[in-house]
Amino acid sequence: MVTKVKRRRFDCLVLGAGGAGLRAALQLAQDEARVAVVSKVFPTRSHTVAAQGGVNAALGNVLPDSWHWHMYDTVKGGDYLGDQDAIEYLCRAARRLVIELEHYGVPFSRLDDGRIYQRRFGGQSQNFGGAQAARTCAAADRTGHAILHALYQQNMRAKTHFFDEYFAIDLLRDADGHTLGALVLEMETGELLVIEAKATLIATGGAGRMYRTSTNALINTGDGLGMALRAGIPLQDMEFIQFHPTGLAGLGVLITEGARGEGGYLVNGEGERFMERYAPHARDLASRDVVSRAIHEEVQAGRGCGPRRDYVELKLQHLGDEIIRKRLPGIRETTLRFAHIDPATASIPVYPTAHYIMGGIPTNRLGQVVAPARHGPEEPQPGLYAVGECACVSVHGANRLGGNSLLDIIVFGRAAGNQILAELKGERYHRPLPEGVIEEAVARVRRWDRDGPESVEAVGRDLRATMERFCGVFRTQAVLDEGVRRILEIRERLARAGLTDRSRVFNTARIEALELENLVEVALATVSCAAARTESRGAHSRVDFPKRDDAHWLRHSLYFRAGRTVDYKPVRTRPLTVEPFPPEQRVY
Ligand code: SIN
Repeated sequence: MVTKVKRRRFDCLVLGAGGAGLRAALQLAQDEARVAVVSKVFPTRSHTVAAQGGVNAALGNVLPDSWHWHMYDTVKGGDYLGDQDAIEYLCRAARRLVIELEHYGVPFSRLDDGRIYQRRFGGQSQNFGGAQAARTCAAADRTGHAILHALYQQNMRAKTHFFDEYFAIDLLRDADGHTLGALVLEMETGELLVIEAKATLIATGGAGRMYRTSTNALINTGDGLGMALRAGIPLQDMEFIQFHPTGLAGLGVLITEGARGEGGYLVNGEGERFMERYAPHARDLASRDVVSRAIHEEVQAGRGCGPRRDYVELKLQHLGDEIIRKRLPGIRETTLRFAHIDPATASIPVYPTAHYIMGGIPTNRLGQVVAPARHGPEEPQPGLYAVGECACVSVHGANRLGGNSLLDIIVFGRAAGNQILAELKGERYHRPLPEGVIEEAVARVRRWDRDGPESVEAVGRDLRATMERFCGVFRTQAVLDEGVRRILEIRERLARAGLTDRSRVFNTARIEALELENLVEVALATVSCAAARTESRGAHSRVDFPKRDDAHWLRHSLYFRAGRTVDYKPVRTRPLTVEPFPPEQRVY
């Protein structure tokens, strides 16, 4: 039986209303393209809202700076796995696009002379590895919130069309591989809708919810990544998961790196500033992978804090109440609410927590999804784009620097918008959408009209615990292989799980099941790539292969869902205009 599904048509469909999706949509709508943005939450609740510390740009307002130093830090921070052409593009564009945000109405904090306030963040240096830089433009500790609201307001003004609280099920593609839109589901009514578009942009964010403790919102379930995998597109560099050093211990709630940027520091259970041993030069502002490993090692060595010695402490008391209220008001609110701690009078218990995926859908710096067939040449996939955390350009390499994700979304959101506009000029008509393609996507939803031997919730709990235990900060072959085996088992359990009659009444249960399907696929990609990479680089720390191995592993991984195979492609080491930064020993 052919299902009748309502249809709408737009020039461009943007899946996701975080900063990346909104920046791209704005570029399109300002040029009078008809843009639909689909978001499973009200747009200003997207996860960009949670980004605290700031956005990097070498404005030089506080200390001398240059985009070229920023580029060096980003290449080194990513442990030389980032593509240097894309990194040059990112760092060069930063200044103009941050000023543009200011003009869009982002209320940045100010210096006394009225210029944008910039704070110190991890991995930043002057003069190619010299003294600490101050490159992160901040709106107190609510920078993502400020940017997201400004972009939403600009989109309202530009008449972007929003489908709020709609869940994207799958991409719709024809036999030639053209993406022609997506099937979406209205969450309140359960009604399906086909949105046809000449170009589709995936901007659905990360998948941090595959871990038990995470800084990520509940909505970060890798929906775009799952969609890409099901469409036959590989995911790149998925083994590189960033653990933020300072999640509130036990809860994972983000305590911004900006807290250390303002002068906060970490101590172990013996009251020692242990980062001096791990990173004598940068200390608490070493890159995140270095600080997370150091905390983990302190706790493993029995030098943690608290009755179980299972966390370290972040000290802010010496900053004083006034600076904390002015520069870190959100952190003060968070610690008061979740830990009953006033950071002006007591230390904050912290521990590394899953934060960001460096990998994602492979794209070029125009936002085009560039997927090779296995062992085939890489080609732009017609009509398909990706930006933001779900994409891998790759500018973050094996470890992202704090403050570079907000920059990534505005730089590549805009670039993708411009590329789509250029391509729309040659696409006057919508291509016909084969009926069978819609049926296939509808079947994915209908599959959940069933009972099963166990609940989706139980399977989800096991997935998160498994990822934490078998794909964490430190990894070994045996642990990762066991992780792959367990996630495969979890995938089978999910295929048999069902919704009870009662839970089927609410679409939320169905949506949680669809989200979990996405998370399981992303988790499998992550552990499979981690098990295959036998070196340590950036956030991927192998106890059994503790050294970086450029001779064999200076290459990107590509995970294909069909057959669960992992392939590789070269890193783009040649920048656009400057000399390359060759791999060096990475010390902070
Ligand atoms: C933070 O403020 O520490 C998080 C922001 C980021 O990940 O760039």
